Amino acid sequence: MTSSETQQVQPSQRIIRSSSGPIGFVRSLARLLSGKPNVPPSLADNPLLETILQRRSVRTFDKREIPDDVFAAILEAGRVAPSTVNLQSWSFAVFTAASWRATFDRPIPFQGQRAIIVMGDTHRDRLVLDAFPQSPLIEYTLGVVNASLAAMNMNLAAEALGVSSVMLSETGRTGLLDAGYLKQTLCLPDGVFPLMTIIFGYPRGPYPPMPPKLPLDQICFESKYREPDRAVMEDWLAQMKAGYKASHLLSSFEAQLRLYVSKIGRAEADLQSMIFRDKQE
Ligand SMILES: Cc1cc2nc3c(=O)[nH]c(=O)nc-3n(C[C@H](O)[C@H](O)[C@H](O)COP(=O)(O)O)c2cc1C
Repeated sequence: MTSSETQQVQPSQRIIRSSSGPIGFVRSLARLLSGKPNVPPSLADNPLLETILQRRSVRTFDKREIPDDVFAAILEAGRVAPSTVNLQSWSFAVFTAASWRATFDRPIPFQGQRAIIVMGDTHRDRLVLDAFPQSPLIEYTLGVVNASLAAMNMNLAAEALGVSSVMLSETGRTGLLDAGYLKQTLCLPDGVFPLMTIIFGYPRGPYPPMPPKLPLDQICFESKYREPDRAVMEDWLAQMKAGYKASHLLSSFEAQLRLYVSKIGRAEADLQSMIFRDKQE
């Protein structure tokens, strides 16, 4: 860490202990809505930094179609992403609204106009190179890391071109939690595992507020790991719940977590059989 970075990592000053009930809700919501990225004034007009800091996961799209050249540029940003030993251990299943419906018999989530299912792919390079033999966890991890970098490149390229997106692990049928179903439907060979589904479209309405991001002093440390501050974490959780309640009147943060949990056992088993396939043969 440089000395200027060190100077910025100060303990949080403004943590208000969350109280429960309506007052706690209003307080947490107010704190959530006041959250903004910190940009040094001298860098405020840097276009790439602005794109990164203003990006949001968007879940409401209008009906405008994404032109082919714009979508091609998004894919190109994925293609040229960095990767371990330049292995490019990813695959992208690419959809229009029509081909998604033909494949999955349902519309793209959130009425998105295009979608990409991003997969870790440790199958392709094995044709010519057995780079990491007998190391399923290393291979899987590298696949996840590399494909996630490609996903983020595509996400930011989209954002720079005025196209919004959201990455999804739970879509009802077509996300990480449905890895087994996707393996079957997309005819994925061993060594190819779904990671996330990115939905793209032009945003309908203003961007949502930034969800609560942890302060730098909670996520950075020097030389030895620093235990998290419980008050900061409770404040974060209270803001998460308040934000969820404000945007999903008929649901709750807890209900969303329960949905994930209900699918995790099956997804875990499917993924283990995909990752540790050699051990089972
Ligand atoms: C790998 C990954 C999976 C995600 N899965 C979902 C999902 O299933 N449903 C959803 O609504 N959002 C999902 N998100 C979006 C996150 O909720 C979002 O990134 C987070 O709340 C932070 O908001 P921001 O992207 O606007 O900063 C996912 C994001 C990532 C990176």
